[in-house]
Amino acid sequence: MSVSVDPRATAFIQRRHGLLINAEVRPSLSGAEMPVFNPATGEELARVAAATAADVDLAVAAARQAFEGSWSQLRPADRERLLLKLADLLEANGEELAQIETLNNGKSIHLSRALEVGASAEFTRYMAGWATKIEGKSLDVSIAAVPGAKYRAYTVPEPVGVVGAIVPWNFPLLMAIWKIVPALACGCTVVLKPADETPLTALRLGQLCLEAGIPAGVVNIVTGTGAQAGAALAGHPGIDKVAFTGSTQIGKVIGHAAVDNMTRFSLELGGKSPVIVLDDTSLDTAAAGAAGAIFFNQGQVCTAGSRLYVHRSAFDKVLERLGTIASSLSIGPGLDPQAQINPLISAKQQNRVLGMIERGVAEGASVICGGERYGESGFYVRPTVLANVRPDMQVVREEIFGPVVVATPFDDLDEVVHLANDSVYGLGASIWSNDLRQVMSLIPRIKAGTVWVNTHNMLDPSMPFGGYKQSGIGREMGHAAIEAYTENKSVCIAY
Ligand code: NAI
Ligand code: MG
Repeated sequence: MSVSVDPRATAFIQRRHGLLINAEVRPSLSGAEMPVFNPATGEELARVAAATAADVDLAVAAARQAFEGSWSQLRPADRERLLLKLADLLEANGEELAQIETLNNGKSIHLSRALEVGASAEFTRYMAGWATKIEGKSLDVSIAAVPGAKYRAYTVPEPVGVVGAIVPWNFPLLMAIWKIVPALACGCTVVLKPADETPLTALRLGQLCLEAGIPAGVVNIVTGTGAQAGAALAGHPGIDKVAFTGSTQIGKVIGHAAVDNMTRFSLELGGKSPVIVLDDTSLDTAAAGAAGAIFFNQGQVCTAGSRLYVHRSAFDKVLERLGTIASSLSIGPGLDPQAQINPLISAKQQNRVLGMIERGVAEGASVICGGERYGESGFYVRPTVLANVRPDMQVVREEIFGPVVVATPFDDLDEVVHLANDSVYGLGASIWSNDLRQVMSLIPRIKAGTVWVNTHNMLDPSMPFGGYKQSGIGREMGHAAIEAYTENKSVCIAY
């Protein structure tokens, strides 16, 4: 039985949506709108304003005014209190937010409740605490230029300024929170551009920020396309930092645009994360671990365990069990609490994923299970396991961002290290084994921002998160998030 839709979620979705600039909801200056869809049906769900460069100018100006004005006057403890209030409001409106997310993104209502809402609230509380704990260093310097003069130097982490945040559609509310909250904790203001496909929870979040008492202009939400609103924001000379999560392809475009203005930037990009199963792991643990690593959120996860490497002695048996799990997962809309696999975000992504599977098969891969779409309507792809793959195939090299894993056997640790690192990406990796000696020798050899052991995809606000190689530049979470939204000023006093 499907979850019955909360009337508050319906009322919000059906609203006339505008941009949120300086606490005002307004249409785009051009009057342009864009549709958003329900991935479970393929039908139009709502229409939102489509911002152009002129709207982005207004939003950046509002954020600048708030940064120089009311926001800079607040004490750190006041920023902390406002963020704690926001966390309470996320929870108080949790079911409405979760349902809006599931209707707009397609994901399971369980994930919307636990992650988009639950993890967002926890992250917000964690980051709120940092507002009062940002500190510099006192430096005992040895300057000898003027005989007899004494000096004392210290550093002050200052808010970097106006932040342009551009986020993807796979965790819409959580990604918006990951950017907005640490920026605010540090005293920055924000212009957020949600993904074209998933603007709705970001717009609701903008309202909750106001309800929490966060002053006008501190958080501005500009919905629109990446090509127009996103590009205008990333290249805007009026922002001080751009924070991006999305594809490596667009991350490079954004990095170039930022450097032209010397805008600071952090990029959380794609991945092709290996799952490495050593020979001491039980077959059931290995198969369940591999399934969880790739099928969570339909594989639309930057750290998805999309390359599976199993010791040859266990390869056939693990694959057989993984195939059994994958074929038994029930497929359906996110509002059906029994459905374990939900639609992908869009027809475009569905076609992209199916196209990559097709090319893999044409290049010689064998389909252990899945490999095709599911249902007459909605953007579903069946959980797919591919074997007989070679390292040069597109399915092994490129991020698929769908429920598709490629499996390869290995014979020894040197070989699996080589295979695991044979990628332009380096976001995550997991090692499955209780053989301490082997695990400890593997961890330093894996080029990835996060290495999990006997788990995968587990994140915490205290764990720095980001990529090696083309998976990005910079780290989010933990103290790293504070460094990402502050700039160090050195002060030197002669006395
Ligand atoms: P994308 O990187 O194009 O979109 C992410 C965000 O960037 C969206 O808000 C989009 O509007 C914005 N954007 C797009 N073009 C822009 C531009 N020229 N300037 C500024 N902002 C721009 O990702 P897309 O096209 O939605 O998905 C394509 C592939 O990217 C996926 O199949 C997946 O492989 C990868 N991807 C990875 C994500 C991750 O978390 N690592 C998230 C989303 C996509
Ligand atoms: Mg794109």
